[in-house]
Amino acid sequence: MTDLHDARVFVTRRIPEAGLRKVTESCAAEVWPEPLPPGREILLDKIRGCQGVLTLLTDRVDAEFMDVAGPQLRVVSNFAVGYNNIDVVEATRRGIRVGNTPGVLTDATADMALALLIAAARRIVEAQDFVRAGHWKTWEPLGHIGQDLTGATLGIVGMGRIGLSMARRCQGGWGMRILYHDQYASETAERELGARQVDFDTLLAESDFVSVHTDLNPTTQGMFNRAAFAKMKPTAVFVNSARGPLHVQRDLYEALRDGVIFAAGLDVTDPEPILLDDPLLTLPNCVIAPHIASATVSSRNGMAEIAADNLLAGLSGQPLRCWVNRPE
Ligand code: DGY
Repeated sequence: MTDLHDARVFVTRRIPEAGLRKVTESCAAEVWPEPLPPGREILLDKIRGCQGVLTLLTDRVDAEFMDVAGPQLRVVSNFAVGYNNIDVVEATRRGIRVGNTPGVLTDATADMALALLIAAARRIVEAQDFVRAGHWKTWEPLGHIGQDLTGATLGIVGMGRIGLSMARRCQGGWGMRILYHDQYASETAERELGARQVDFDTLLAESDFVSVHTDLNPTTQGMFNRAAFAKMKPTAVFVNSARGPLHVQRDLYEALRDGVIFAAGLDVTDPEPILLDDPLLTLPNCVIAPHIASATVSSRNGMAEIAADNLLAGLSGQPLRCWVNRPE
C-alpha cells in the first residue's frame, strides 16, 4: 500500500478506537477532540489542505467545503450509512471519492425501529411517566389501552437492508402482513415474507404501522406531511428511524394532537437536536430518542472500521470498501 504517513487528514469527531487507531497510525491525522462538532468556520479551517476527511452526518460537505479543502482532497469518508449531508454529485464532478458504512448497523437500526414501534403502540413511555408521577393508584381495566401487534399490517417505506430486517422481525414475531413502497421491487421480501409492493396511498390506508427506512433526497423530503397522515388509520403508529426531514414535524404534531393517527416513535427529528420548545415534546403519544439506532458496540465498531478503511483506500487511490460514487 502507498505510504500515507504524510497524508493530511481531519477526523471531525472521535470515533471508536477500532477505526480511529487505523487512521492515526497510518497518516498525519488530526482528530477533533470535543464532544460537540466543530463550528463551520473551524471545520473549514481544519480541512484546508487535507487529502482526506472523515466526517459525521452532522458535517455539511458541500461545494464550499470542497473549495476550501482544495484540489488535493481525494476522499470523504462518512461515518454513517446515510450521506444526505454530502453533495455527492459535486464530489463526483471533482473526482473526490465518497464512502459510507452500510450493513454493520442494519440489525441495530431495525431493533430500534421495532422498539419504537412497540413503545409507541403500547404507550410504554407515557406509562412510565404515569408511574413516576405517582398516578398509579390501582389496576385499571380501561386505562393505558394500546394497539395490538399480532396479525397487524406493517407498511415499510424503503425496502432496503434495514426495511427488510424490520419486516422480518415483525413477520417472524407477530405474523404481520407486510406491504412496502419502494421504487424497486424486493424479490427477497416478496419471496421470503410474501410482502406486497403497493403505491404510497395504499400503504398509508392499509397499514397499522408505518415504518420509514428510505433515504433522504429531494423526492422523499417531507413525504410524511398533513395529506399523508390524513390517509392513515386513526389507530396507526408512525415510526421514523431514518431521517427527520422525511416527515414535516409540524404536520406530525398536529396529526398526533388531533388523533388523526394514534402515536409515533421517532429516532430522528427535524432539526436535530429537537428544539426544546417543539410542541412534539408536549405530547404523550410521541416517543422520541436522540438518533441512537446504530448505537450498539458492534455497529459502532463496524462503522468505525469501514470508515477508516474507506478513508485509507481513498487516500491511496484504491477502491473503497463501501463506495457511494463508485464509477460505473
Ligand atoms: C446512519 O448511519 O445513517 C445513521 O443515521 C447513524 O448511524
